[in-house]
Amino acid sequence: MASPLLILFSLPLAVVLYHLFYRLRYRIPPGPRPWPVVGNLYDVKPVRFRCFAEWAQLFGPTFSVWFGSTLNVIVSSSELAKEVLKEKDGQLADRHRSRSAVKLSRDGKDLIWADYGPHYVKVRKVCTVVLFSPKRLELLRPIREDEITVMVESIYQDSAASGKSVVIKKYLASMAFHNITRLVFGKRFVNSEGEVDKQGQEFKAIAINGLKLGASLAVSEHIPWLRWMFPLDEDAFTQHGVRMERLTREIMQEHTLARQKTGGAKQHFFDALLTLKDEYDLSEDTIIALLWDMIAAGMDTPAISVEWAMAELVRNPRVQEKVQEELDRVIGHERIMTELDIPNLPYLQCVVKESLRLHPPTPLMLPHRSNADVKIGGYDIPKGSNVHVNVWAIARDPKSWKDPLEFRPERFLEEDVDIKGHDFRLLPFGAGRRVCPGAQLGIDLATSMIGHLLHHFRWTPPAGVRAEDIDMGENPGTVTYMRTPVEAVPTPRLPADLYKRVAVVDI
Ligand code: HEM
Repeated sequence: MASPLLILFSLPLAVVLYHLFYRLRYRIPPGPRPWPVVGNLYDVKPVRFRCFAEWAQLFGPTFSVWFGSTLNVIVSSSELAKEVLKEKDGQLADRHRSRSAVKLSRDGKDLIWADYGPHYVKVRKVCTVVLFSPKRLELLRPIREDEITVMVESIYQDSAASGKSVVIKKYLASMAFHNITRLVFGKRFVNSEGEVDKQGQEFKAIAINGLKLGASLAVSEHIPWLRWMFPLDEDAFTQHGVRMERLTREIMQEHTLARQKTGGAKQHFFDALLTLKDEYDLSEDTIIALLWDMIAAGMDTPAISVEWAMAELVRNPRVQEKVQEELDRVIGHERIMTELDIPNLPYLQCVVKESLRLHPPTPLMLPHRSNADVKIGGYDIPKGSNVHVNVWAIARDPKSWKDPLEFRPERFLEEDVDIKGHDFRLLPFGAGRRVCPGAQLGIDLATSMIGHLLHHFRWTPPAGVRAEDIDMGENPGTVTYMRTPVEAVPTPRLPADLYKRVAVVDI
């Protein structure tokens, strides 16, 4: 039997030989020199997309970064984004599943973590044809509008009398929670006092725990031969799965009973999936995983986009006033905005685009994994590598954008630019086979929320804070929250009776 000492000495040698083999066999992109075993894991700065943008200046628009023994390739130009997401999309549409992602997604039985293949194509079709169809999104519009009026009412109640500043994120997060849970699970989780009820608390706890479990074991994930030293906390994952399933089944039971009583299904995603279970041959595991995917991907992203936009609008009073002029002209002061007004609000739409250009909530999208050896930018990308598109850097590239760091929505009046994956200079939702299926919903929500916030209130920095002092830095993470949640003073602009919630029952 090999002695432990022999194993200890031969492992680093194996790693060196492995790298040598790679270098000789493939022409991989240049990049920072990797350290033995850990690669570049400890060279990457916490806000990864900024670090990668700096490295692109040093190594070029295609470069390599080693996370342990996994090759990651980062592309940072619109031409290369097109190559990855359009021309070579077929070889680059898989996902890398860490051990925690394997557990959380029931080994890719969902959409987000599924590899591209028959299962993916089936659930993607369910999303496109059923869940995110324009008809269903329109039928669910009253829920979004109800929740936006709740948000406006609570900002008004908390600030109008005092004239004090508010932390905008607090209201956006609450709106995002109630909106997505109603859309996906068909329930508003509140008790008779208007507070989040027991099921809702459990729901939030599961979502937070999912993030915690997803982030665990980060280092050992990248060094497979060291995993024995960092065993997965099987119990924690099992318990998490049990909680998720218990809550989901409890709600499933309520919906089944409701359908039996009324004889009809509702529009929310849960009823839609239960109704189509047999037609699309969806297992219960897949239904549960899909529902939670929508929460993971669709709860925070619109709220984050709105928070960044509001920070830009507080910093840029000229733009804020121009949106308000448009809102006053199109809607007036006698009624509130609805999503149906959006086509008549071109400048507001430009503000949303400009904000997503400078602050995409997922600046590196989600990494794609190659299912075969493939060439990108003339370099070899071996099968099993991860490819990241730095959409943040691409949207600030001076080769594509005039004065790229300036917040100037007018640029989109001068040139109509698509943001849903057809123009490779601006890709907040990605592009190609794995483009965000919730893009239109995200755009509608963000546009409507910003429109309401600006129609109802004028926003100024808190006393003693200058606009230029607002912290525009990001927190590390896959999704980019503001490092310091933006605070501002909302001053009402409309008659008092327009600040009341317009409630609708679940649809
Ligand atoms: C402003 C809002 C949003 C932004 C910026 C955004 C952005 C993105 C991006 C960049 C991706 C990765 C694309 C790729 O891997 O190539 C993605 C995937 C995804 N998004 Fe969104 N998203 C938003 C809103 C939503 C909403 C509201 C939902 C659902 C309710 C949603 C559901 C999903 C799902 C399920 C995926 C995984 C798709 C797949 O792997 O095939 N997103 N999103």
